Amino acid sequence: MTARRNATRGTAYEEGLLFERSRPGRVGAALPPLDVPDVDAESVLGSRAVRDDDLGLPEVSEVDVVRHFTRLSTWNAAVDLGLYPLGSCTMKYNPKLNEKIARLPGFAASHPLLPESELQGFLELCWRLEQALAEVSGMDRVTLQPAAGAQGELAGIMMIRAYHEARGERRRQVLIPDTAHGTNPASAALNGYEVVAIPSGPDGILHPEDLEKRMTPEVAALMLTNPNTLGLFETHVARLAEIVHDQGGLVYGDGANLNALMGEARPGDLGIDVMHFNLHKTFSTPHGGGGPGAGPVGVKNILAPHLPAPVVRKRDESEGGGFTLDHEFPHSIGRLHGFFGNVGMLVRAYAYLRSLGRDGLHHCSRMAVLNANYLLARLRSVFHAPYGPTVMHECILSDRHLEPAGVTTLDLAKRLIDHGYHPPTIYFPLVVPGAIMIEPTESESLEGLDRFVDALLEIEREAREDPESVKTAPHATRLGRLDETRAARRPVLRWDPASDADD
Ligand SMILES: Cc1ncc(COP(=O)(O)O)c(C=O)c1O
Repeated sequence: MTARRNATRGTAYEEGLLFERSRPGRVGAALPPLDVPDVDAESVLGSRAVRDDDLGLPEVSEVDVVRHFTRLSTWNAAVDLGLYPLGSCTMKYNPKLNEKIARLPGFAASHPLLPESELQGFLELCWRLEQALAEVSGMDRVTLQPAAGAQGELAGIMMIRAYHEARGERRRQVLIPDTAHGTNPASAALNGYEVVAIPSGPDGILHPEDLEKRMTPEVAALMLTNPNTLGLFETHVARLAEIVHDQGGLVYGDGANLNALMGEARPGDLGIDVMHFNLHKTFSTPHGGGGPGAGPVGVKNILAPHLPAPVVRKRDESEGGGFTLDHEFPHSIGRLHGFFGNVGMLVRAYAYLRSLGRDGLHHCSRMAVLNANYLLARLRSVFHAPYGPTVMHECILSDRHLEPAGVTTLDLAKRLIDHGYHPPTIYFPLVVPGAIMIEPTESESLEGLDRFVDALLEIEREAREDPESVKTAPHATRLGRLDETRAARRPVLRWDPASDADD
């Protein structure tokens, strides 16, 4: 096995598989003595359930395994290592208190098939979380089932479709501004709707006259993100909702950016009929990344009959009190997730809500907005900033001023890695060519923000004086610039025994 060494760090960047480290007879665990009768498995389970062939698992020691995974973990960028300024699909810091609460055995070790009487604490948590989310957003009811923001959107549009169908209407279109996240048109299209894009105005927000031109009785819904993905508050939201409602349509609110609004404004008060929450963007749960996330959906009472069943219900004292799962939703869109959704996320979000309380959440939103504006104020004299002068939770820059040096947004993002930062979201929103989208969130200190700005300013200076070093970045990582135009040429990762020589 060969390993090339990274010039900057002097470390081997290749890591073999545990299977390659396997040595016959090497073990990493000592099992306790058998404390149950030794039975012939085949006679109990039947031959189809028992394998006698070698599973071919790696035979490795504990230290082999610990070092392997610890080494791999150092290859990752992580929000626990530093600012993670990814706009839109933001990953905000997850307080460790949430982790502690989610690991309480009553939550972490409960079996989902326990009878309701044994799940009262958990059902109460779900009910309380629903109430809290409804209060923050101004919605009437909430479902916790969807596994991600995107699935929440799907659920919301399904409910909108069910609502129109229950009224005997078959509407064909969903209107979506051109600044929307890609999941919006995908959710509408998956529900069989034709997606009609509406251009945002030169100031980056949607204008009533542009909506009016496209709003007809064929339109089932407007999907509106507020603040939008340019980090701008849709100031006409109430009028936009009125225009849609006047023609019998509904307004879907993409609530992914609620982190900018808590305690300041509630989507439900602004005319939104249904919205999803991205727990990872607002209530500090880890981002599912296609995995075990959570994207609860809040609805106004008109859509409540269509909520995914079952729904947690607080029983009256006359029914014996406590909490129960209500399956009686004849107009429900159906179940979206097994059991109760991704429970660990719900517990973390509830812990976050309770530990901050009303004033704490309000303070979070104010700090998130202040931080984004601080970044924009420090960067806009050097980088092209197409919108502003002030923003909400995130700010957008572009590579326009880097063009004379032949340096692009992609180059800048790669060079930021050398400064120890996960790159921001790039080339989104689509309405900004060469977009660099930065969402610092509320957790960064002033010094942390200044360090990040200094890194960006340093890259901008380097782009003018030594563009090659930016265009060939990253230089300090285990792998250099990948040829992203040829994904088929994937690097083979191998372990170099020499790198372990001084272990
Ligand atoms: C504006 C917006 N809408 C929808 C989504 C989709 O959410 P998720 O990644 O949880 O599916 C995101 C991503 O976080 C987003 O930023």
